[in-house]
Amino acid sequence: MEVIEVNQLKTTEKEEINMDGEKKKSYKNHFCEGENREIHHTYQPCDPSEMEDYKTIKVIYQMPLAPCKVETVADSNTGNVYAKKTVFKEGLNDLMKALARQECVIQSELDHPNIIKLHKYCETEKHFELVMDYCNNGSYFEDRLEESNEPIEDMELLKKYAKEILCALVHIHSKGILHCDIKLSNMGLHKDSEDSEEILKLFDFNLSVYIDSEIEGKAHLEKSVGTFGYMAPELTGKDIHVGPEIDMWALGICLYKMCVAYPPNQVRGYEYGTGPIPFVKRDWRKIDPDFQDLIKQMLEYNPENRISSAEALEHKALS
Ligand SMILES: Nc1ncnc2c1ncn2[C@@H]1O[C@H](COP(=O)(O)OP(=O)(O)OP(=O)(O)O)[C@@H](O)[C@H]1O
Ligand SMILES: [Mg+2]
Repeated sequence: MEVIEVNQLKTTEKEEINMDGEKKKSYKNHFCEGENREIHHTYQPCDPSEMEDYKTIKVIYQMPLAPCKVETVADSNTGNVYAKKTVFKEGLNDLMKALARQECVIQSELDHPNIIKLHKYCETEKHFELVMDYCNNGSYFEDRLEESNEPIEDMELLKKYAKEILCALVHIHSKGILHCDIKLSNMGLHKDSEDSEEILKLFDFNLSVYIDSEIEGKAHLEKSVGTFGYMAPELTGKDIHVGPEIDMWALGICLYKMCVAYPPNQVRGYEYGTGPIPFVKRDWRKIDPDFQDLIKQMLEYNPENRISSAEALEHKALS
């Protein structure tokens, strides 16, 4: 279950008349707190009519009551296949709409082989639509580890996935962005063709935030944000300042689950913060001790002692 409680942004809507005399809506995001510091990155939705070029192939994600749908679509001009995410406005409060706009702004700013690229987005009275690269094995980790409880036993593959997701995180963090919802269902595998290499892709920037340079590289959250089971221990209470360490904790949980198909707090009697992260010998005997050490450093309870994305990429487990 996802907690959407972050209360950092507010969006103001303005109607402008363009050169052709047409009315156009424009939006600006502001921080609610402080002195109305504006985000530099602008929200630039395309005209909704441009979305008519994308013809639905198949719905790939739709949950009852969930405010979003993901489908594969084909561009009728080129035949290229994309994923289109539709976020329905019905039932969304202003904050959730601001987050949907922020998702568009942040994801379109990112350009990295391990991150799903957002190509265009639009907003209408009823919904937001995001057209992005299609990841053709998008629920691989969720299906394998959360549905079938099947750990990944190939050490080389584990290291490759760890490196790929870390490369994505280094890129995100270097741009002053926190993903805030790193979890197995927000990453997938993609293969361009039968004989090309499968690579990991990260998606879902719905909860992502910008770091506020005025609070020492941290983002201010009025309340916690993330998905239960993946949230770092410092994500509690109100008006918190958190940094990229929250993504590293969540990645530590993902890698731990990739190795054994259960999270550390499922080891009987263990609660985070009560002692070292448990590694049950029977389940960890085939895992490289260096890789285990890397996970341990991601799951440091104190964020100040937690390994960063850049440091983790240099860890000897991944050399
Ligand atoms: N670009 C994509 N390519 C392939 N599959 C995708 C893509 N984007 C999303 N999906 C699939 O759709 C699911 C939901 O998308 P996404 O995570 O962006 O939405 P969400 O509403 O934030 O979901 P949740 O709340 O479950 O995290 C993903 O878990 C994934 O299986
Ligand atoms: Mg998701």
